[in-house]
Amino acid sequence: TAAAPRLTVIGTGYLGATHAVCMAALGYEVLGVDVDPGKIERLNSGEVPFYEPGLPELLAKAMDSGRLRFSTSLAEAADFGDVHFLCVGTPQQRGSNAADLSFVHAATDELARHLRRRALVVGKSTVPVGTAAALADRVRSLAPAGEEVELAWNPEFLREGFAVEDTLHPDRLVFGVTSAWAEERLRAAFAPVIGEGTPVVTTDLATAELVKTAANSFLATKISYINAMAEVCEATGADVQKLAEALAYDDRIGGRFLRPGLGFGGGCLPKDIRAFIHRAEELRVGQAVAFLREVDEINKRRRARTVSLIRELAGGDPAGIRVAALGASFKPDSDDIRDAPALDVAATLHAAGARVRVFDPVAMDNARRACPQLDYAADALDAAAGADVVVLLTEWTEFREIDPAAMGAVVAHRRIVDGRHALDPAQWRAAGWTYRALGRP
Ligand code: UDX
Repeated sequence: TAAAPRLTVIGTGYLGATHAVCMAALGYEVLGVDVDPGKIERLNSGEVPFYEPGLPELLAKAMDSGRLRFSTSLAEAADFGDVHFLCVGTPQQRGSNAADLSFVHAATDELARHLRRRALVVGKSTVPVGTAAALADRVRSLAPAGEEVELAWNPEFLREGFAVEDTLHPDRLVFGVTSAWAEERLRAAFAPVIGEGTPVVTTDLATAELVKTAANSFLATKISYINAMAEVCEATGADVQKLAEALAYDDRIGGRFLRPGLGFGGGCLPKDIRAFIHRAEELRVGQAVAFLREVDEINKRRRARTVSLIRELAGGDPAGIRVAALGASFKPDSDDIRDAPALDVAATLHAAGARVRVFDPVAMDNARRACPQLDYAADALDAAAGADVVVLLTEWTEFREIDPAAMGAVVAHRRIVDGRHALDPAQWRAAGWTYRALGRP
């Protein structure tokens, strides 16, 4: 329709590329922008630069429709768009827990300098609370259109591996706005999603920023809670898997994000809770989120405990033992290895003198780049050939389906550590394996 705003998406990583493709699929004219010319070239030729189920097909359709293209020029974006989505990364600063906002600042400043007419800039990146208000002032002061340019905040909750589904059918939309006009523009930009009954929470900028941080903190806490129970289970011979199953029947608790194991990693949860602690301390409310330090510590202990379980199984000294590491990505259905517990465990074992052979169904290239010191195998059986211990680190479906007898035939010793509670202990034990998992007898 004539009223539909033209959209730009600035930053084409996991979040931005998915957002751009999905918005084009919903019928909008979209321009995606990134500073990396290589990425833009790949996207323009119809290639998704990372692994995300369903996204390549949707990108191809969107390119065919003529509604989507990619560019490196923010001047072009300013000229083209009515609503500009900021999707650049906010990684953890080196040597600090704070979020690095340099990409956010660089992108908004450059965009703002070209904004010559009424436009809405919408932040989606995860930022410390208070960032949006500061950006709003900065955008207005830099933009030739001045007060005509507004800023809003629309946090993104998509999960890697389910990014398309989460973008097209989100649980909720959160609009942080400072005017009725901004809300109307956002509603127009999400009309098809709102049309199917998605709840919209409209609020101020600071609350919108905090919703994201609070949600990720809650999820991380839930995971560390069950992993803390796993530590207690280990000390008493209790079974955390059964404990979690029984807790989950209580609707108030629920079973989601209550899977015990090696803990959380990825580009969001670990750095977001650390940045939240840092920001809360700046705001002098550090005490209110002090428990998040424990959440982080519990999570890190899972990795250390997995390493020591492998040592135990191998007889104590890791030097020279052969370990088959199944999985490298931070979770299944993703090639993302940022803060991946799997690679962390593999690298720690290697540093202790073990000979580690890694296999992952899609994250091999990323893993090789990040950890060139490790050995990489052609498949799971190849990784396991001659191994003293096998360790399952990422619960890919193909690992769940491994035949214990077939793998048993190629290893040196039938010993397995199930870091993700993904296997059936009875089945593996029946095939002659010593099976161990965190928090299980
Ligand atoms: C997360 C949030 O879920 C999402 O809403 C936000 O937008 C970005 O951060 P993502 O990082 O893609 O998404 O992964 P998620 O599925 O949340 O898993 C995070 C980590 O927790 C993974 O390493 C996973 O293996 C681990 N996890 C998850 C558990 O250890 N146990 C669980 O029960 C659930």
